[in-house]
Amino acid sequence: MGSSQDEDSLGTGTCSPMSSLHECHQDELGLRSVSSFSSTTISSFLSEDLGLRTGPVVIDMGTRSCRAGFSGHQTPSAEISTLVSHTTVWSKGLEETRSEAFTGEEALLYPDTEIIEVMQNGIIINWEAAETLWQHMFEHKLGVPPEEHALLITEPPLSPTSGRENVAEVAFESLGSPGIFMAPQPVLSTYAHGRTSALVVDIGHVVTHAVPVHDGNCLAYATKRTDVAGSCLTWYLTMLLGDMEHTLGDWLSPVVEDIKHTCCYVAFDFDNECLVPPTSCTLDFTLPDGQTISLSKERFQCPEVLFNPLPTWGDSYMGIHEMAQRSLDLLPEDIRSVMHRNILLCGGSSLFEGLPRRLDSELAQCLPPGTEVEVVAVPGRRHAAWMGGSVLASLTNFQSCWIRRDEYYEEGPCIVHQKCF
Ligand SMILES: Nc1ncnc2c1ncn2[C@@H]1O[C@H](COP(=O)(O)OP(=O)(O)OP(=O)(O)O)[C@@H](O)[C@H]1O
Ligand SMILES: [Mg+2]
Repeated sequence: MGSSQDEDSLGTGTCSPMSSLHECHQDELGLRSVSSFSSTTISSFLSEDLGLRTGPVVIDMGTRSCRAGFSGHQTPSAEISTLVSHTTVWSKGLEETRSEAFTGEEALLYPDTEIIEVMQNGIIINWEAAETLWQHMFEHKLGVPPEEHALLITEPPLSPTSGRENVAEVAFESLGSPGIFMAPQPVLSTYAHGRTSALVVDIGHVVTHAVPVHDGNCLAYATKRTDVAGSCLTWYLTMLLGDMEHTLGDWLSPVVEDIKHTCCYVAFDFDNECLVPPTSCTLDFTLPDGQTISLSKERFQCPEVLFNPLPTWGDSYMGIHEMAQRSLDLLPEDIRSVMHRNILLCGGSSLFEGLPRRLDSELAQCLPPGTEVEVVAVPGRRHAAWMGGSVLASLTNFQSCWIRRDEYYEEGPCIVHQKCF
């Protein structure tokens, strides 16, 4: 069990999150940025934390997966599918049937289960299911009681503000958290890179955003989104495999994802890549039943839709370079150049080989000649928002920013709007 964190250790008194963070971030964030995690600091950082189950817990929710772990750690300790199901089971002891909830991959294991949609387009829509998922994370994945650990929850871009009150309600009234805080995912991703200003391009499972973060604040007016993300790439690869007469039913979608992760890459120049003889880009993939399939052009045709979505998909499917450009166009001149030089790729679907170079080249073509563009793609970028939360929750100056339990019960859920930035 983790060591207890009582309310006093969450800090007392009022604080302005931004001023507190700004006092500390330049020194502290730089020390624990994603890039420094990959250097020699990792070993000492890890060895200090290895096996320790203490301090605040950070939960980062995505439509595909929910990631949780302890602040100060380099990566989340647990990641499960964002799935909750209810099924009716026979309870031997009680001699009756009762409804039981299952979470993560387990949610799909039982027949006759009702799958509950926890999130839609990156936003939590079922708070009861979210509570089940978080409770499961604490009890079964982290192995600590939620009453003993402050909780930092990441907030997806463009979330309705009412969502913050719901988080507070679940955390304080159901989980019994001693303290909570919510911070926007793009701000946390920026912190994870040891920065406070950047254009965050997060390519997730069902949604992709370009969010300019300036001095630790999301610029909502210049935030852009597109529906081009991992799930439509998996769908498109299934179609391409179908054209090759490899029909992998829906139940094999994890296999298609595996093929996508291991075989696909983004071409630097799509038209040129198509002229290359297929044999020079052929790669074999062994299916679970032992059959082998050979992929060639499909390897780069699939992720090409990140830049050139199918015209039939509609207006909400915009290429990621176009989305980034539209966001940059809305920024005032004086901060635009900072953003150009700090384009941070984040999210699971940003992991394709060749993607950073292609995005760099596409942006260089659509921005004014001579614009200096730098696309940053660090190895740990899939978990950038979680890592930023881990850094933030462990900063000394941040400790007075937690919304304490007593404050919540004095002021009510609206306190989240005063204390979270
Ligand atoms: N190595 C990889 N190469 C390509 N795609 C990958 C790789 N690893 C994971 N993905 C894809 O990344 C997606 C999940 O990304 P992520 O975890 O950022 O999404 P999420 O935060 O759960 O969802 P969202 O942000 O859309 O709400 C999935 O579609 C998955 O197939
Ligand atoms: Mg996400």
